[in-house]
Amino acid sequence: MGRILRFPEGFQWGVSTAAYQIEGAVHADGREDSIWDVFSHTPGKIKHNDTGDEADDSYHLWQQDIDIMHSLGVKAYRFSVAWPRIFPSGTGERNEAGLAYYDRLVDGLLAARITPVVTLYHWDLPAALPGAWLSRSTPLAFVNYVDRITRQLGDRVKQWTTLNEPFCASFTSYAFGIHAPGERDLAQALQAAHNLMLAHGLAVPVIRANVPDARVSIVMNPASVQPATDSAADRNAARYCNGLESRWLLDPLYGRGYPTDMQADFERMGVWKESPDYIQPGDMQIIAAPLDLLGVNYYSRQVVAADPVQPEKPEFWRGVLPTNAPRTEFGWEIYPQGLYDLLAWLKETYAPKSLFIAENGASYSDGPDATGAVHDTRRVIYLHDHLVQLARAIEAGIPVEGYFHWSLLDNFEWSEGYSQRFGLVHVDFDSPDKKRTIKDSALYYKQVIAANSVEE
Ligand code: GCO
Repeated sequence: MGRILRFPEGFQWGVSTAAYQIEGAVHADGREDSIWDVFSHTPGKIKHNDTGDEADDSYHLWQQDIDIMHSLGVKAYRFSVAWPRIFPSGTGERNEAGLAYYDRLVDGLLAARITPVVTLYHWDLPAALPGAWLSRSTPLAFVNYVDRITRQLGDRVKQWTTLNEPFCASFTSYAFGIHAPGERDLAQALQAAHNLMLAHGLAVPVIRANVPDARVSIVMNPASVQPATDSAADRNAARYCNGLESRWLLDPLYGRGYPTDMQADFERMGVWKESPDYIQPGDMQIIAAPLDLLGVNYYSRQVVAADPVQPEKPEFWRGVLPTNAPRTEFGWEIYPQGLYDLLAWLKETYAPKSLFIAENGASYSDGPDATGAVHDTRRVIYLHDHLVQLARAIEAGIPVEGYFHWSLLDNFEWSEGYSQRFGLVHVDFDSPDKKRTIKDSALYYKQVIAANSVEE
């Protein structure tokens, strides 16, 4: 028997999803394409050419999903609103049927005593918006959409997140070519990142005006980075990796502007010059709008080594792992201590008022056995081990007020399609009713929530 680690009174135990990953019904009730519909329908972009067309059909099965959460004792549900359901072409005419869907969902959650936590942007940008995130008109369109949806739901929804992982929506999308729209141009990624952060900063006061008692956050996926060795080159590579994945966006959020060491790297690489014309006077103040809490997604760590051929160029860093490192089926290292380290780094560097874990989870493909049970023991262990580190962090005085497991359901895992399963609940994608089956991990989570503690 280990020590019992208790969580604070009122700790928010939740589960997370995102619209394009679970809703399906992409052309129901007036929804038009997002950049992810376009991308997933481009042959070769997604594993097995999977798309979000049907996904979990949560657009129709939302009541069943609420019932499942209720049965698990889940206290809060983090979901995202699909912008193209509200404004199918991004701006202009609004779509009442889309608004009505989220009205029903929110009312259903409240009836089940589950707190709705809404992400305003989880990557499904309306495809009709010209220039996507490279255009400065997109942040303005975002604000218009945020104004409408917060007016609609603000009497019932108090927890709002502007963006999910702006790092992925800019760098993974515009520099690495992995996410929609699939560009490979670092200069474009820096421009997209700026416009995303501007959209965030412009939206914060709009949320506050429409929902006076709102708790406003942004969800980031800062990297938990370590150099592979103590060599100067590896340490420099780790500095660059941490700069790109964490500080480039967090520094501006906390009023420090873009980090100067990274500006110097980007200038040398020819993708940045001092005061690029897409940054206008006043932007950095807008981006630094005060937040109530910071959302953090953590899955794994990065162990970073310099490139052996060009060690003086930190941008050619490589991720290296100990050969026997335990991994999930995605290949991501299982490193629970990294959650503690990341939270400690965030507290020390930015001292956020409050934090919540907006995502944490693992990909394992276990499915129902002959009796219909899903023994996803590896996910149970992953969950337990990360909660122990979280409890340690809280004990050490880091103000974390909630934990949201990624994900409630197996779902459309972006460029991996349906090949990676993150759910506490199994979904049979081939069955006409997208059959849901509770996994052992969900039952374990239920116990944790009821006890408000984990055993070390
Ligand atoms: C992200 C997103 C989620 C993912 C999850 C697993 O982090 O990419 O927020 O939508 O599905 O992280 O990769």
